[in-house]
Amino acid sequence: MKIVEPCITVIFGVNGNLARRKLIPALFRLDAAGRLPEAMAIVGCSLERWSKECWIAEVADLLRARFSNEFDEQVFERFRARLHYHATPPDDNDAYGALRRVLEETPGFPSHAMFYMAVRPSAFPAIIGSLGAAGLLEESRGWRRVVIEKPFGHDLLSAQTLQGGLHRHLDESQIFRIDHYLGKGTVQNIIVFRFANILLEPLWNNHYIDHVQITHSETLGIDGRADYYEGAGALRDMIQSHLLQLLALVAMEPPVSLSAEHLRDEKVKALKAIRPITQNSVHAHAFRGQYTSGVVDGQPVPGYLDEPGVAPDSSTETYAALKLFIDNWRWAGVPFYLRTGKRMAENSSAICIRFKNPPQDLLRTAHRESPHPNWIMLGIQPDDCLKMEVQVKVPGLDLHTRRISLDATYRKASEEDYDAYEGLLLDVMRGDHSLFLRIDEIEWAWRAVDPIIKVWAMERDFINGYAAGTWGPRGTYRLFDGDSQFWRHSLNPDGADPQAY
Ligand code: BG6
Repeated sequence: MKIVEPCITVIFGVNGNLARRKLIPALFRLDAAGRLPEAMAIVGCSLERWSKECWIAEVADLLRARFSNEFDEQVFERFRARLHYHATPPDDNDAYGALRRVLEETPGFPSHAMFYMAVRPSAFPAIIGSLGAAGLLEESRGWRRVVIEKPFGHDLLSAQTLQGGLHRHLDESQIFRIDHYLGKGTVQNIIVFRFANILLEPLWNNHYIDHVQITHSETLGIDGRADYYEGAGALRDMIQSHLLQLLALVAMEPPVSLSAEHLRDEKVKALKAIRPITQNSVHAHAFRGQYTSGVVDGQPVPGYLDEPGVAPDSSTETYAALKLFIDNWRWAGVPFYLRTGKRMAENSSAICIRFKNPPQDLLRTAHRESPHPNWIMLGIQPDDCLKMEVQVKVPGLDLHTRRISLDATYRKASEEDYDAYEGLLLDVMRGDHSLFLRIDEIEWAWRAVDPIIKVWAMERDFINGYAAGTWGPRGTYRLFDGDSQFWRHSLNPDGADPQAY
């Protein structure tokens, strides 16, 4: 494994949601776990002219609130010594020249630097242009790596334009396009599960698999992010990025090695094989919805249109479901159903793979219930788990069958839990691109969803509603190929029965 090299981590947008909720806590936890190199420094950047002390007090408050009983004052003392603040107000023409002096002249600062863009996407080009103009992206003193958050563009064309802008200042090896889903334990476990075991490979194709479901549901609403979400919607926010990455990992061929390029070559091949959805077939392949008021966790919550910052006639989707086909030898004819939604009944992310029925039902007289096909399920969150549903004989003199779940939940109580950002930040420090996106992956993912985006953008007059706290709009069932298919809401055996909304 490559070594984690000490660097200066410069976070742009350090007072924003992402830095406060994910990046600062991840860096703190890495420090607590002894995973940050000693010389590592953190420079928070934002437009506000704050003092270093004021920012550190903010960081202390947010970490105390976040970790409450687990907050360790001693670790914080060590962490505090790493923290620096630099303001980049728009009216300061020398802000980036001054940043360069801070990075190059502060005693004890390492020579490598990571620049993390925790800012809204429209701000990336200007910041990267300013870093380039100030000479901060030249690699003569040490490496310079730039981490870019999604969304990478809002369609294929804008993604290509953004890429063109980045390449004026950066070499591809310096760019880390982050998809935090790839840092989640179970997501990496898809690779291990598929390629470290021979058992499943003969079954992993259209001869045995009936369909694949990939779900990410959240009980949370838009969490005060209307300014971003109104322009994005569920399709761009979750499906174009995270869920298509999961699809690629499930569907890809075994790579030659687990090196970043081999892995990404295979993911791109899977994405390329997605059958294009023509504008005429959008309604047969995609369904959208928007939450109305309802009850979540016993509390009444407002509908999307009543969220602060949302236009009263908004047709932005908070729920999206797709049916995709992968036109290659392995997957021809197998539907992949993807769905995501805000304000749904539960927080749950999972990949559920349903197998076909045996060719002949020899035990038809023995079933107490209708026969149940096998399922393999990879739970991503809230718990990472691996389950397999099979039929067994009910103990007793008669030959009856029942469904049981082989639960291969693999985390032992003593094994560490970590946030996806922790591992991904270490990967940037190692220079390992395996879990970061290459531009062609992003382009192919946009190609898959662009026709849907175009049609939905034209049809602004109507959007299906679903009550907050439910499993989404009922009409989504029309995507299924036949009555035997239905959304699997739960990974417990009762989830294998069709469930009402
Ligand atoms: C982000 C989306 O990328 O992923 C959010 O912008 C979503 O809308 C989040 O809530 C889900 O990720 P996680 O790891 O919080 O479940």
